[in-house]
Amino acid sequence: MKKEMIYEGKAKKVYSTEDPEQLIVSYKDDATAFNGLKKGTIAGKGVINNQMTNALMQRLEAAGVPTHFIRQLSERDTLVKRVTIVPLEVIVRNISAGSFAKRYGVEEGIIFDAPTLEFSYKNDALADPLITDSHVLALKLATPEEIERIKSMALKVNDELRRFWAGCGVTLVDFKLEFGRLADGSIVLADEISPDTCRLWDSRTGEKLDKDRFRRDLGGVEDAYREIMRRLRAAG
Ligand code: TMP
Repeated sequence: MKKEMIYEGKAKKVYSTEDPEQLIVSYKDDATAFNGLKKGTIAGKGVINNQMTNALMQRLEAAGVPTHFIRQLSERDTLVKRVTIVPLEVIVRNISAGSFAKRYGVEEGIIFDAPTLEFSYKNDALADPLITDSHVLALKLATPEEIERIKSMALKVNDELRRFWAGCGVTLVDFKLEFGRLADGSIVLADEISPDTCRLWDSRTGEKLDKDRFRRDLGGVEDAYREIMRRLRAAG
């Protein structure tokens, strides 16, 4: 079914198919951090991220959030709708961590009264800088209607995923989403939802079950990915 590779990113490859409106995403075990400065491999990550993304996207679809997901083809490969990616990283936070804690000089683990939402401009050469709504408009990265739609979809995703992970004994600290435009201009959730793109803490012990184990050299990276996948499977 794969025709030719049209894009290779840090964690995934994208292939064209016979159908111009459909692509195949193939998940790799490669891991990077700090805009590619740190490189490594997380054995089995591609299989886990593919299956976790698909399980979560199907839940989100059922909850009324449109996604690019069509169907899983194999352990690492998934058929998706072709989109033009809106070049924004949409980050939702429930608890302080990572760049938020660093930027504002606060500790990790502060529970917010309400989720925060921010955009980064998806641009590796610029190291994905934080960007304001008015700068998104000035650069014509999205229309005002698209910005509002993306924000409301991202908060809906947070509501759904937070509840789902809580049922697995996992606290959803923060995550990054990407959105795309279909041929008709409508916005759908794209990219992935995985331990690469979410912070997931064990609700009881606070143990990190996500890519921070790789970013921060905490050890037990593969075990954390396997454990979070086990929790998702157990939730059915
Ligand atoms: P941050 O605290 O480093 O800004 O990260 C916020 C969330 O976004 C965290 O769950 C990890 C995720 N993330 C990505 O998916 N890709 C990235 O390139 C970065 C920097 C963060």
